[in-house]
Amino acid sequence: MKILTVIGARPQFIKASVVSKALREVDIQEVLLHTGQHFDQNMSDVFFEQLSIPRPNHLLDINGGSHGEMTGRMLREIERVLLKEQPDRVLVYGDTNSTLAGALAAVKLHIPVAHVEAGLRSFNMKMPEEINRILTDQISDFLFCPTETAIKNLKNECFDNKPCKIFNVGDVMQDSALFFAQRAIKPVSLENRDNFILATLHRAENTDSPTRLAAIVSALNDIHRHIAAVVLPLHPRTKKVITQHGLRLDVEVIDPVGYFEMLWLLQRSSIVLTDSGGVQKEAFFFGKYCATMREQTEWIELIDNGVNTLVGADAVRIVETVLQHNGQRIEDNASLYGGGKAAMRIAQILSNIS
Ligand code: UD1
Ligand code: UDP
Repeated sequence: MKILTVIGARPQFIKASVVSKALREVDIQEVLLHTGQHFDQNMSDVFFEQLSIPRPNHLLDINGGSHGEMTGRMLREIERVLLKEQPDRVLVYGDTNSTLAGALAAVKLHIPVAHVEAGLRSFNMKMPEEINRILTDQISDFLFCPTETAIKNLKNECFDNKPCKIFNVGDVMQDSALFFAQRAIKPVSLENRDNFILATLHRAENTDSPTRLAAIVSALNDIHRHIAAVVLPLHPRTKKVITQHGLRLDVEVIDPVGYFEMLWLLQRSSIVLTDSGGVQKEAFFFGKYCATMREQTEWIELIDNGVNTLVGADAVRIVETVLQHNGQRIEDNASLYGGGKAAMRIAQILSNIS
């Protein structure tokens, strides 16, 4: 069995690292295609190095531009690679433009698609991620869901009546968090601090809205000044818009960090503020309360379990939530996300299907 995996953005490298390892353990041949969507050393190479991901067999250089342009260019180039490689399956992760382009190129060539992180929904069609994940699910043959909620979402969309196969395997990000937890290292660029709050910010809904962005920046500045130091590894997208709008960030801004440094920050922080999908769960895995700077979340079980609050881009709500929950220790409930066995479940299912 030969699987071609399409990856391109930071969270996909982290997810693929544990699944690629499991595929090797069940003797599946994997060909790696990196679209080039993320390309800076600290957004791409660092993860291949730290997580021992094999070098991509195909490295495209497709990034920037509009959504249509990026996705269209990827579609054309991925198709060329698929025609050459003739894989038995194509494996895609999550909800980025690389995910949709990989799935669409494959289904048009009648190559079965396996989607890791299937069934997640925010019910907000303004998000590029929501469009990508709905379309990818529709054209996938193997839907690997991370949660019960994801399974329910697919049932509500009548996936039971489709010829695809749906599995609740758990969340591969829990696998990687558990597997690499001991490898955490302090970021070299970080000042010595006893106590800090970890923040990340990159979602289009926040960075593309000057009012939302200004409100979040003002809340972070306030928290840094009056509550505790805020450490913000800044995504290149956010750095660009903050400069464009002439906004002033008075927190400890550092460049994006590798995964091991991120694990260190997650383990040592007193609370997490984020609009990231992955970081919301990682806060939980490391026992930290999370304030999510969005209006919806796909990881609704965190809200239901009282360990995450949706604070939107409302400066008052952000500050109040930090005041209320800073330092709160969260009990891990491993059953929510499968307990760190998702990658092997995926590999075994793929190896048992001829
Ligand atoms: C993408 C995904 C988003 C995911 C995020 C993970 C889509 C539509 N969005 O968003 O779902 O949460 O990745 O981080 O696929 N840039 C650099 N260097 C890099 C990467 C990006 O400078 O290595 C800059 C470029 O100017 C680029 C901008 O960031 O135009 C945005 O990058 P892009 O990949 O389009 O979207 P993300 O915001 O990273
Ligand atoms: N991450 C990282 N370095 C950083 C910021 C994030 O290694 O500077 C990791 C983070 O721990 C998580 C993943 O990147 O595993 C999340 O990616 P991101 O927030 O970019 O995307 P999302 O999950 O929102 O799609």
